[in-house]
Amino acid sequence: MVSKVIAHDLRANPHLVMGLATGRTMERVYRWLVRSHREKKLDFSLCTTFNLDEYVGLPAEDRNSYRYYMNHHLFHKVNIDLRNTYLPDGMAADLEAECRRYEELIHRFNGIDLQLLGIGRDGHIGFNEPLSALRSRTRVKALMPTTLAQNAEFFGGPDRVPRRAITMGVGTVLEARRCLLLATGIQKAEIVARAVEGPITSMISATSLQLHPRCTVIVDEAAASRLSGTDYYRWVFDNEPEWQDYR
Ligand code: F6R
Repeated sequence: MVSKVIAHDLRANPHLVMGLATGRTMERVYRWLVRSHREKKLDFSLCTTFNLDEYVGLPAEDRNSYRYYMNHHLFHKVNIDLRNTYLPDGMAADLEAECRRYEELIHRFNGIDLQLLGIGRDGHIGFNEPLSALRSRTRVKALMPTTLAQNAEFFGGPDRVPRRAITMGVGTVLEARRCLLLATGIQKAEIVARAVEGPITSMISATSLQLHPRCTVIVDEAAASRLSGTDYYRWVFDNEPEWQDYR
């Protein structure tokens, strides 16, 4: 479903500027996009990508860096021009200047058309940990212990996960013209319900998406299991013309 939306938007606008996320949830999306490229000639040659975040202190060649992840899962497997793929540089000598540069770059490309988002167990989008200001911009964030634990297996323990990352801000994300939030699995059910149906709070960055004029949340049955309005959401999906190509 997410991949279908991306493929649809990319076919409609080959110059699409995409905001990308990493993590386990996105792996399936990228596998599907790679398959669409190989089997249905989905063309990435003219698009531009901006990733949400990157760890501070990890070089691109490090297997745990998000540059490595993106190259491995998507960029090296499709016909994208690597020069059109941007991530914050977590190795920059001046991290604040790097954050400003990243924001300016996004502006130079006239903003992000389609932003892909996962959700952390603490409700983060990108690495906007609890109490991220709703208007925050790209900056360095200290990671929460829950996030260190969530990503520990890749590093061989929470103590080895970098403590800080550069992330687009909540305000940066909200300026994207369209957002897609994707969540799968029972361990996301509680936070998805709070993000979608709970009150807007900077304690859960994903609740800020309720302020976005065009945000779609895509969940599997398990991740949807704590939502209270499921019957209504199903009806909308099954009946509204906007979704007819996706049913
Ligand atoms: C990473 C990012 C994060 C992840 C989130 C979910 O670029 O933006 O917000 O999307 O931590 O990660 P997974 O999919 O591994 O549960």
